[in-house]
Amino acid sequence: NSIEQKFPKDFLWGGATAANQYEGGFGQGGKGKALVDVIPSGNKRRDVMRGMFDYKELNEESIYPAREAVDFYNHWEEDIDYMIEMGFSVYRFSISWSRIFPTGEECESNKEGIDFYSKIVDKLLANNIEPLITICHFDMPLQLIEKYGSWRDRKVIDAYLKYCKVLFETFKGKVKYWITFNEINMLLHMPFMGAGILFEDGEDKEQVKYQVAHHELIASALATKLAKEIDSTFQIGCMLAAGQFYPYSCDPKDVFDALEKNRETFFFSDVQVRGHYPEYAKQKMKTNGIEIKMLPEDEMILSENTVDFISFSYYASRLTSSDPSKGESTGGNVIPTLRNPHLEISDWGWQIDPLGLRLTLNVLFERYEKPLFIVENGLGAADEVKDGKINDDYRIDYLRKHMKAMSDAMTKDGVNLLGYTSWGCIDLVSASTGEMAKRYGFVYVDKDNEGNGTLKRLRKKSFYWYKEVIGTNGNSL
Ligand code: BG6
Repeated sequence: NSIEQKFPKDFLWGGATAANQYEGGFGQGGKGKALVDVIPSGNKRRDVMRGMFDYKELNEESIYPAREAVDFYNHWEEDIDYMIEMGFSVYRFSISWSRIFPTGEECESNKEGIDFYSKIVDKLLANNIEPLITICHFDMPLQLIEKYGSWRDRKVIDAYLKYCKVLFETFKGKVKYWITFNEINMLLHMPFMGAGILFEDGEDKEQVKYQVAHHELIASALATKLAKEIDSTFQIGCMLAAGQFYPYSCDPKDVFDALEKNRETFFFSDVQVRGHYPEYAKQKMKTNGIEIKMLPEDEMILSENTVDFISFSYYASRLTSSDPSKGESTGGNVIPTLRNPHLEISDWGWQIDPLGLRLTLNVLFERYEKPLFIVENGLGAADEVKDGKINDDYRIDYLRKHMKAMSDAMTKDGVNLLGYTSWGCIDLVSASTGEMAKRYGFVYVDKDNEGNGTLKRLRKKSFYWYKEVIGTNGNSL
């Protein structure tokens, strides 16, 4: 009793994956072709993800890493056994929309797809693991993109709701936590990967992006409404690619620039949590000549169907300056950032800032006063297998520092945090680079960037470390 608890008793500990980088099973079980199945690895990847290069013009030899990924489709039992062994109380995964509706337009859902996810949910529940489902994680049936131009068209909202209805009815009474869209703000930075937008020549890109954003926000609100009608205990969350922007200096211009950069992220959660467009966004759109086509009922749809919790990914803080010539840029979770001289960086140039996580938690909690959920965090690093062992002390160090920061946010700042799912708990394909070499997992998967390997799984040192963290409810940290 005298030991001060670092985490609440019912804190949810676990890991996260996404179908598009983990599941594979291309063409198996009746799955239709999805957005991610046409994103190649290699030098064209970035332009395809940004909607600047048409995937139809890729050559025959292109490699599409998502098609096999690490084949969770055929390894799901074994992989969940690892999660059980580590003591997970939550597992976040995404459902592949095109496994449920192969083109997005069928009247009936694909039974094989439903059966696949039902088996997963049942195994999780049998082992006291709470499923946390992402309905759409960078993935949608390709046909909706080719036929309707993706979320440009309101018909895609209907297709999404039909898909949600099947999921909600299937998992009523079984799954409590749902996320409508992974990193919804990513559509501004990676329009094709984030929302299936392929730009046409001469198109006003900002206009397209904000119209698409509006449709996703309406889809998210209507999904929330539908969820509550089907099971009033469902908890629906929004999801941001978070990480505060810091000003490069104390020059007020830099401070203001950081405020504006942060608004690009908050725009989405402001609508999803508060239920209306913030004034700063309306003004900015006016100034930039962006006009969103809305239906008369849209305002009410947004205001009546706000989310229950706010989930987010956090890899690092970001840095910005009003003067483009200042500082050098560095890698990061797609959203451009300057290099912060106070921080270390990963092998991929991503900054490492545990205190930034505490700060981000505080900013979000003060802004919304709603429960938060960290649904992605971790270190992408190259691992080396030596004598059948992987000593990933660097990963343990990163995770420990971030977990301590979240404990501080709860115990010292009073933030209400529901749980933590580290990213890529079993190694999977990197979203930004398409590489296998960039690993996040507690479990190693034998596969390389060229697609060679046995797919055999191997526990890393961090596996045993995380098991102890969970087993002591964080007191071992
Ligand atoms: C988030 C995504 O942006 O970051 C994940 O939701 C992604 O899909 C993760 O994998 C880490 O990024 P990366 O590029 O290292 O895989």
